[in-house]
Amino acid sequence: MARKKKTVNTRAKNLVTKDNPKSPIAEQFRTVRTNLQFTSVDTDLETMLVTSANPSEGKSVTTANTAIVFAQQGKKTLLVDADLRKPTIHYTFRVPNTIGLSNYLIGAQKVAEIANPTELNKLDVITCGPIPPNPSELLGSNKMKEFIEEAKKTYDMIIFDTPPVHAVTDSQVLANFVDGVLLVVRSKQTEKESALKAKEQLEQSQANLLGVVLNDQDVKSSNYYYYYGQ
Ligand SMILES: Nc1ncnc2c1ncn2[C@@H]1O[C@H](COP(=O)(O)OP(=O)(O)O)[C@@H](O)[C@H]1O
Ligand SMILES: [Mg+2]
Repeated sequence: MARKKKTVNTRAKNLVTKDNPKSPIAEQFRTVRTNLQFTSVDTDLETMLVTSANPSEGKSVTTANTAIVFAQQGKKTLLVDADLRKPTIHYTFRVPNTIGLSNYLIGAQKVAEIANPTELNKLDVITCGPIPPNPSELLGSNKMKEFIEEAKKTYDMIIFDTPPVHAVTDSQVLANFVDGVLLVVRSKQTEKESALKAKEQLEQSQANLLGVVLNDQDVKSSNYYYYYGQ
């Protein structure tokens, strides 16, 4: 029982932009949003994916909070769990994962049929769905292109959570279909070489690298954000 409670608490903490929008961390996610918008000033940024070199560097946390701050800005936002290997979005948003992206990619569902509403009225999420045996193949398929085209008709911003670059090709494959890629680096965890290699791999697959998010930076060393506005 105690264990279950802990899981709930941990997940709730992950959505800092929703639960504590005035916190310094939420402010930093708004800075990420602003920077993304500046980066793509000439080309309308409608689709992006978030990835990192290795597991557990904060891809899913970053994806969820970035999607939330876009929704809070009034953009109709769709968060898609395209980590078809270790999906977590259904836990984070506490929605069922009986039907999701994998169903769309092998079936005849409509985007509207697999999208879940969230507590934020501008944010919908699509979970992974049943884990398929061939994620890279599905993510690189024409059906995936179709998914993006269909989703664009309803949403202003579509953000994909993906697996790590070094583990599998999924994020590189999907990078070809989206407007840009956000790379997450975790402070005191991601090795410099590893991050650089991930960047190179993404560039080799013609990804448009929008920027890098430094996750888990010691807040004490950036007091600036504590005193910033709000
Ligand atoms: N900045 C952070 N501060 C504290 N915990 C974090 C932070 N970023 C990620 N975590 C925790 O680290 C774990 C891995 O994060 P996650 O976003 O799931 O990584 P990934 O999707 O890259 O595997 C999760 O338990 C998450 O709550
Ligand atoms: Mg993840």
